[in-house]
Amino acid sequence: MEIDILKDFSFTPVEKSKIDTFDFENVQFGAKFTDHMLVCEYKNNAWQQAEIKPYAPIQLDPSARVFHYGQAIFEGMKAYKDVNDEIWLFRPEENFNRFNKSAVRLAMPEIDETIFLDGLKALINIEKEWVRKGLGNSLYIRPFMIATESGVIASPSNEFLFCILLSPAKSYYAGKIKVQIAEYFSRAANGGIGAAKAAGNYSAQFYPTKLAQEAGFNQIIWTDSTHTKLEESGTMNVFFRINDTIYTAPTSDRILDGVTRKSLIDLAKKEGYNIEVRPVLVDEIVEAAENGTLKEIFGAGTAAVINQIEAFSYKDKMYELPNMDNEGSYALDLKDKLTKIQNKLADDSFGWTVKI
Ligand code: COI
Repeated sequence: MEIDILKDFSFTPVEKSKIDTFDFENVQFGAKFTDHMLVCEYKNNAWQQAEIKPYAPIQLDPSARVFHYGQAIFEGMKAYKDVNDEIWLFRPEENFNRFNKSAVRLAMPEIDETIFLDGLKALINIEKEWVRKGLGNSLYIRPFMIATESGVIASPSNEFLFCILLSPAKSYYAGKIKVQIAEYFSRAANGGIGAAKAAGNYSAQFYPTKLAQEAGFNQIIWTDSTHTKLEESGTMNVFFRINDTIYTAPTSDRILDGVTRKSLIDLAKKEGYNIEVRPVLVDEIVEAAENGTLKEIFGAGTAAVINQIEAFSYKDKMYELPNMDNEGSYALDLKDKLTKIQNKLADDSFGWTVKI
């Protein structure tokens, strides 16, 4: 669909682009943003005219609800540039739908498709130069919504701000990571907001993750309330390979329904891997690590893509995984196949990629 920026969105360009100051070789994930952002206010029960304007601070009343009650949601998406300089999104409808599910759960208004998806396309069209080609390069997309109404009454806001930021990205983690299995802290509760991409799900993890990092780990694999089932790692959904079968936990109201997760499940099936979606017990993973049948653990997420886990700890014992990199690693093979689809270097038989 052709988007008429001037008709559908108000557009104020930057006076001078900062692209020349951006170091595309040394990219720190999510640290710097492109020249423009999209903003759209919600008030009087309606979304207002969306605006694409220079990236700049947002001014809010100090009593805005987001600061006090954490009414905030976001998404993570990526765009890729192919060898012909065309730009592609990966399954953007999935993020749009999940954003609106998160909005409902957090008592926020659903966003219109025109603002979210057409707005995103219009914004990326303006920022084309910021998308670099080649496997490993992408433009990370961060749509978010915050409650802006002033007043510290503990009830849902009636005013909101929707915004989309763009940030050139390479990898999220520098390499393989070490994780700790959660034995005390929890990320989410039954009936809670764990399945929503809510800001609070991330801040809830910061303290336990900080403790884990002080102990030499990168991340935590979260468990259910009984600490017996492995769920997700907070920045990624998690996959376990025992012998020749891959296992991953089913989604629930505690686990994020990851777009990379669901794509990987379909891709693995198509490629003939044995993959089972079923509860994964801490005990069976520990036992498989002890008897040598645990071959791989890897995480999957938009920012992290597919990231190998080289070791985990449980009850103060460290379990190292075998290095499968030269022995038919499922994680590396699936990462290669998925990223080639995303970058239009392989046939997209699923129809996941959407041209901008
Ligand atoms: C993403 O993968 O896009 C996420 O939102 C995870 C975030 C912690 C970077």
